[in-house]
Amino acid sequence: MKSFKPALLAAALALFALPVMADPAHPKIGFSIDDLRLERWSRDRDYFVAAAEKLDAKVFVQSADANEQKQIAQIENLISRGVDVIVIVPFNATVLTNAVAEAKKAGIKVVSYDRLILNADIDAYISFDNEKVGEMQASGVLQAAPKGNYFLLGGAPTDNNAKVLREGQMKVLQPAIDNGDIKIVGQQWVKEWNPTEALSIVENALTRNDNKIDAIVASNDATAGGAIQALAAQKLAGKVPISGQDADLAAIKRVIDGTQTMTVYKPLKLIATEAAKLSVQLARSEKPTYSSQYDNGSKKVDTILLTPTPLTKANIDVLEKDGFYTKEQIGL
Ligand code: GAL
Repeated sequence: MKSFKPALLAAALALFALPVMADPAHPKIGFSIDDLRLERWSRDRDYFVAAAEKLDAKVFVQSADANEQKQIAQIENLISRGVDVIVIVPFNATVLTNAVAEAKKAGIKVVSYDRLILNADIDAYISFDNEKVGEMQASGVLQAAPKGNYFLLGGAPTDNNAKVLREGQMKVLQPAIDNGDIKIVGQQWVKEWNPTEALSIVENALTRNDNKIDAIVASNDATAGGAIQALAAQKLAGKVPISGQDADLAAIKRVIDGTQTMTVYKPLKLIATEAAKLSVQLARSEKPTYSSQYDNGSKKVDTILLTPTPLTKANIDVLEKDGFYTKEQIGL
């Protein structure tokens, strides 16, 4: 009786050698997030996973805790798991060129989520119009403080959004600078958007300017929170207009109690659901609908840009109407 062992063994080995075959009906999506410790990203994650699972996709979420080496390692792990698409919120926009190239070589599509990955062969970018967010922030503060000394509290220098926000802010502020109404007495980027970092930056700015700061253009709510702590220590909270973005719950309470002038609401369910749809379409080689293109330094990237909404005490009810918070959470 001829032994079938070698033939069976060969067949079994051949089976394991097969690349993990993509199943477009049930795409596998990796979601690599910079830092779940900042409030908004856990909401992006939950909305994204819910929307993707509704489309029969499976999502593998990884958080890099604001560490670029960790994020690169996690992306490489997702590549070896044979996912069909990797969606990335980059910690550092400029260090993912090789990781993205590896993903592409493995036939994996790459989506830049909310923040643009620079100098890399990404397939798509989805975000809110960050220049408009910057314009809204500066307009909100300028309306409350048309004259005086301004401090610009930027976002993370590793985040391309921080630069785009600043471009929008300066578009609004420049005419008031040119006619002498306002003066920029200081500006600083905030590492990792960290509120504690923002606190010490504003403490130093107040000391250096002998508390003569009349307005702060802050680029998100977390850093605005740190700045307001520094203002409060000098009994200036509520007296110095200050902006933000993300409609973090703590910021909404500050807008209601008057210590934060405004925030910018970005419907996270919208961007997360649109990103899930886009990712599944790419996995199925379908043609997504894009609104524009963004040059990321190495290509014109197909882009979906969504519209942000400026929020003050006057229209805070938008959040409840949109189901972003309940009336009880907001304390209305
Ligand atoms: C930005 C994002 C903002 C912000 C920040 C902190 O890139 O667009 O919503 O809050 O990151 O995570």
